Amino acid sequence: MNILVTGGAGFIGSHIVDGLIGAGHRVIVLDNLSSGNPRNISQQATFVEGDICSADTVAAIFRDHAIDVVNHHAAQIDVRKSVTAPVHDAEINILGSLNLLEAARQHGVKRFVFASTGGAIYGEQQYFPADEKHPQQPISPYGITKRSVELYLEYYRAVHGLAYTIFRYTNVYGPRQDPKGDAGVVAIFANAMLDGAPTTIFGTGSQTRDYVYVGDIVRAHLLLLDRAVGSEVYNVATGMETSVNDLHIVLSSLITGGKAAPVYAEARKGELDRSSCTSAKIEAAFGWQPSVELRDGLAKTAAYFKEHR
Ligand SMILES: NC(=O)c1ccc[n+]([C@@H]2O[C@H](COP(=O)([O-])OP(=O)(O)OC[C@H]3O[C@@H](n4cnc5c(N)ncnc54)[C@H](O)[C@@H]3O)[C@@H](O)[C@H]2O)c1
Repeated sequence: MNILVTGGAGFIGSHIVDGLIGAGHRVIVLDNLSSGNPRNISQQATFVEGDICSADTVAAIFRDHAIDVVNHHAAQIDVRKSVTAPVHDAEINILGSLNLLEAARQHGVKRFVFASTGGAIYGEQQYFPADEKHPQQPISPYGITKRSVELYLEYYRAVHGLAYTIFRYTNVYGPRQDPKGDAGVVAIFANAMLDGAPTTIFGTGSQTRDYVYVGDIVRAHLLLLDRAVGSEVYNVATGMETSVNDLHIVLSSLITGGKAAPVYAEARKGELDRSSCTSAKIEAAFGWQPSVELRDGLAKTAAYFKEHR
């Protein structure tokens, strides 16, 4: 199949590109390199450097390539930036996504796959782990934009017959995650520890997240191409809660022999206290389960950063 991967120079998108090419698909990457890295892009992919916010750029790709599937990962991913610059966040995450949806509709794309979020959409959870029916109470502009695109996808399905798959990831980690910015705590801690620099935990460190390894995300995308029917939303998660303190302890033991101790700073407003999602639905549909234990995934990630610093 011909698959357009937006954000294919980024952390998750580039791993998906590698997986799709490995499975024999033809991949076109659209990325403006705002946070992505050209070194992440597979040599076997066709790379278009451009912005999803440009309707002309998007239209040209659909004109030049017979796109079967859109795999949409390009986004402004930083929750804190979405709070300080909500218009910018919405321009990329909503209007950019609409450019792709319009082109997909016009060109009869078979399926639109969207990278959504578990934590930011469910907000402070009422029960743990959250399933896909958990009430949605996003408390950040980022969560609102992700929810909005989910609603647009349902509209495009109902009115225009465009099939979709929504994957709500929890906290994805692994090689190639950008340690700059605020988004990936594993990448931030690992790189600081490798540099011998201090690591900061905001709040008590008892806040929990559900960490899922990027290789497991890629497997979910490959399974979906073989098995998806209809238009559904799935959590892609482990269901396990890990505190930031415990994450720090494991990374410190892997990288510094336990010597790195965190510095504590004031809790940041708007951060979720606890977050975890169940992947029972995708397990029943595609037979997907997380396969990489946290400690093993962190060891692989630390080894990657050590080699690529
Ligand atoms: N990392 C996570 O834990 C996580 C969790 C839930 C959802 N997601 C979603 O997964 C997707 C990928 O996230 P990631 O962690 O790989 O982030 P990333 O920043 O590494 O990847 C995003 C990519 O999109 C590109 N991009 C940004 N704006 C663009 C634009 N206007 N036009 C074209 N390209 C643009 C960037 O250059 C980058 O390569 C995002 O949609 C994100 O919201 C990520």
